[in-house]
Amino acid sequence: MPSVGQNVPHDSARGHVTGESLYVDDMPPLHGELLVDFVWCPYAHARIVSMDLSEARKLAHIYTHEDLHHNRLGPIIADEPLLVDDNLCTFRGQPIVVVAGETREQVDAAKRAVKVEYEELKPILTIDDAIAAQSFIGETRYIRRGDADAALASAEHVIEGVFRNLGQDHFYLESQAAIVQPGENGAMQVLSSTQHPTEVQEVIAHLLGLQMNQVVVTTKRMGGAFGGKEAQATHPASMAALVSQNTKRPTRIVYDKDTDMHVTGKRHAFQNRYRVGFTRTGEIVGMKVDLYSDGGAYADLSPAVMARAMTHAENAYYIANIEIRGTVCRTNMPPNTAFRGFGGPQGVATMENIVDEIAVYLKKDALDVRRVNCYGVETRNTTPYEEVVPNNTLPRLFTELPERCDYRARVEAVRAFNASSRTHLKGIAISAVKFGISFNTKFLNQANALVNVYLDGSVQVSTGATEMGQGVNTKIAQLVADELRIPYEHVTVMITSTEKNNNTSASAASSAADLNGSAAVDAARKIRARLDDLEARLGRQDSWKMLVKLAYHERVSLGERGFYATPRLDWDWTSGRGSPFLYFTMGTACSEVLIDRFTGEMKVLRSDVLMDIGKPINPGIDRGQLVGAFIQGMGWVTTEELRYDDKGVLLAHSPTTYKIPNINDLPEIFNMDWIDVENPSNVGGSKAVGEPPLLMAISVWCAVKNALQFVANGDIARLRLPATNEEILMRLTEYTKRGAAVA
Ligand code: HPA
Ligand code: MOS
Repeated sequence: MPSVGQNVPHDSARGHVTGESLYVDDMPPLHGELLVDFVWCPYAHARIVSMDLSEARKLAHIYTHEDLHHNRLGPIIADEPLLVDDNLCTFRGQPIVVVAGETREQVDAAKRAVKVEYEELKPILTIDDAIAAQSFIGETRYIRRGDADAALASAEHVIEGVFRNLGQDHFYLESQAAIVQPGENGAMQVLSSTQHPTEVQEVIAHLLGLQMNQVVVTTKRMGGAFGGKEAQATHPASMAALVSQNTKRPTRIVYDKDTDMHVTGKRHAFQNRYRVGFTRTGEIVGMKVDLYSDGGAYADLSPAVMARAMTHAENAYYIANIEIRGTVCRTNMPPNTAFRGFGGPQGVATMENIVDEIAVYLKKDALDVRRVNCYGVETRNTTPYEEVVPNNTLPRLFTELPERCDYRARVEAVRAFNASSRTHLKGIAISAVKFGISFNTKFLNQANALVNVYLDGSVQVSTGATEMGQGVNTKIAQLVADELRIPYEHVTVMITSTEKNNNTSASAASSAADLNGSAAVDAARKIRARLDDLEARLGRQDSWKMLVKLAYHERVSLGERGFYATPRLDWDWTSGRGSPFLYFTMGTACSEVLIDRFTGEMKVLRSDVLMDIGKPINPGIDRGQLVGAFIQGMGWVTTEELRYDDKGVLLAHSPTTYKIPNINDLPEIFNMDWIDVENPSNVGGSKAVGEPPLLMAISVWCAVKNALQFVANGDIARLRLPATNEEILMRLTEYTKRGAAVA
């Protein structure tokens, strides 16, 4: 029986429940192992006036940038020092000195003995500060179509505003971690909690003056990553490797939770200025959006994140005349980085907010405005960068979801409730997502795979995909089993290793199963073809096990390497045109919230999500991704607030002050479903599901804004994202005061 489409259990389901699953820091200490840690800059911007390491060196192994062959890294531009050099600290949390010792106590004593004298410099902490100082990373970039200025000038109605959203901490349960074992002639073996073993390999080789073939990086699994280990797992692994290179001893580095939250980059905060023109029916005739992100101190992945925000700034809506501008701000924050959605959420939330405001302005239902502007199937189906939206299911999703969740009647019920309740407010909203699938850097859209069939018929598969809980191993095993026409139980996906798969891309952009699954299928297909030939030649049909034995005796190769490169992609920044995505994952969601008028406390009463995720390879795993992403998105739009003091010190650096959603925050009624359609352009007819459902939680934020609209005295309610209880209370207070003044 084919396994694709079946709910095969996640290959770690049992281990995660019993605790047998091994993470980096579960590995027993190696003989002679050293613990590695680092001293980081406590100021957002500072000059090192003097540094005295003499006492620290008596207590432990101490290294600085002077011990590195090179000191610059970065996934797009190599602009970031691993360790502070030129005596200049550019963000709070920047590593200055690496410390290694036998015990935690010894390491802590040595860290305390590192004497650094700083001169504090004026930091750039906000997007406004950066704009005022013209402090940017790279050039402002554009996507333009038609004539937005002319369309705005002649539009019947125009509204404008600024949409602000804050960042988000990844809050993976397993912090950044690595173990390094030195080998012969400078070689080393690295076990890293990373989405991107090849980048860890490349960065270590570069910083330590090795060839890439001397560094083997392996990843068994991650206890969560969410983009936080796409680019920033390189730093801890490199620090440990530096110590191993110098001491010839195994090393281990594991950030504690507070350190991890202080020093690593996060989801980008954005501040977006918009002007939109529309007709009395709500049809958008022209729009200009000016996106600014907080990139932090170095480039990291910020330019690519901005590119995805820009290609998602129109979301599900066709806009003939549009200008999208994107600028990355350089601030003195830790370099912000990939986070599930990769700029998509920030672009889409901006647009969903705009569509809601048009509806308020015109006193129309927001669903009607959305449907008027929704991408068409045959016409009005090209994005601002002129990519055709293939197999567009958005019109269907916009029709079926409201029917399924009884939207119209509930809008009336919410109105009646708000008219009668003096203690509470309700709000309801529908939002949509159209998420482009493929890395928006063309060359990253490739993968290779190794498939080995053993004498007993069992099969090992190795790819560059890394398992972070998302179930990519299980999906790849299912695909290979079906291609070889054997039971799923015969196939095991092995630990990810740069030794077996070279030059791999990060497991990212929702594409790990698409790319690596396709490469694994390519390898399996070649093996199956040889076995089919053999059967034809021998003129007999055998069991799989017999066939494998026969093949071995006939000296037919039972191993293969596969390769996949996503077809058709192209992109050109100079024109802002191209087809950067192979297809789009789509969805609509409806959320209803209840707000306490006196405390601002918000509860999600109900969320209904309806998506087009193609034909799932594993429906159970995809359901897990959909639910998990939605809840993580709810955290971003409601409870998770990265609060800093006026010197850039992160105050919310642990679960006591940074509130991720818990079981009580789940929508009381929560319906997650998808329509039954095949995706012709991807393996197994499936679609990528890692990131898109996170954006469905924007419906919760829109519902909060909808509730506030009832007390906004006819104005357009304005709301920051996240809509924390505190933010909601402040808006309620503001509107109540203003209302009292008017009365
Ligand atoms: N997603 C994740 N990582 C990336 C991307 C992307 O679109 N582009 C480059 N790196
Ligand atoms: Mo992801 S945000 O593409 O690691």
